[in-house]
Amino acid sequence: MTQNTPNSTVETAAAAAVSITDLHKSYGDNEVLKGISIDIAPGEVVCLIGASGSGKSTLLRCVNRLEDPNAGTITVGDYEATDPDVNLDAMRREIGMVFQQFNLFPHLSVLENCTITPRRVLKQSQADAEAEALKQLDKVGLKHLADRRPEQLSGGQQQRVAIARALTMKPQLMLFDEPTSALDPETVGDVLAIMRQLAQAGMTMLVVTHEMGFAREVADRVVFMDQGVVVEEGPAAEVIGNPSQPRTQDFLRRVLNPLSD
Ligand SMILES: Nc1ncnc2c1ncn2[C@@H]1O[C@H](COP(=O)(O)OP(=O)(O)OP(=O)(O)O)[C@@H](O)[C@H]1O
Ligand SMILES: [Mg+2]
Repeated sequence: MTQNTPNSTVETAAAAAVSITDLHKSYGDNEVLKGISIDIAPGEVVCLIGASGSGKSTLLRCVNRLEDPNAGTITVGDYEATDPDVNLDAMRREIGMVFQQFNLFPHLSVLENCTITPRRVLKQSQADAEAEALKQLDKVGLKHLADRRPEQLSGGQQQRVAIARALTMKPQLMLFDEPTSALDPETVGDVLAIMRQLAQAGMTMLVVTHEMGFAREVADRVVFMDQGVVVEEGPAAEVIGNPSQPRTQDFLRRVLNPLSD
């Protein structure tokens, strides 16, 4: 296995948990990311907002190299994600990802969903994996449902299991891609509360969300993307409360008042 040895790029980015520099990604002729640069400090929560198709998911997927960017660099901790020789398996162990669709294994219990990766990838014993899984399920308030199958849970509960499952790997960074967009409204708050708790515990988080209330309360910084570029970024109170760019103002008007035009 290739070990990712520190190089000068990594050293200059040592203070950042994540450093994205001049990232470009195209699908055929469609340039989806047009030079994105974002740094995230350890323990920082960054919310990424922007219209459909602006490139938010593509950016998140580049961070753990589910997509290969065309140009630019990304470092995650000590790993240079864009180095062709990076140890991808080792890097991905540091990154938890939670999607809109929970992607739980339907044939496994909640507990088994949370132990399968630590057992297979970290080679944990069943007892150790179960102890850690139950600890994480307890944190998301679902330890009592450990024996259920995913289909016996609400969407919000399944998403909380997906978060617990990611945390069993003890990631350094959590990526969330619209984690509450597929949920019934009454379960959204439970999932956001778990994410807020995680943020308060010091997790570094990059969160794509349309939940402006969450972003205002929890994000240290909000980044607004449009058509593959970062248009505006700053504290939530500024970007959401008092945006300076017309495109940000337009987007927020539409998100906050969907019937206005
Ligand atoms: N695998 C792919 N192949 C071709 N085009 C793609 C692929 N994935 C995304 N795209 C295109 O890239 C652009 C950005 O998509 P992306 O999913 O990153 O946007 P988004 O900001 O996450 O949007 P949404 O809010 O709807 O989730 C879109 O035009 C999309 O059609
Ligand atoms: Mg998306």
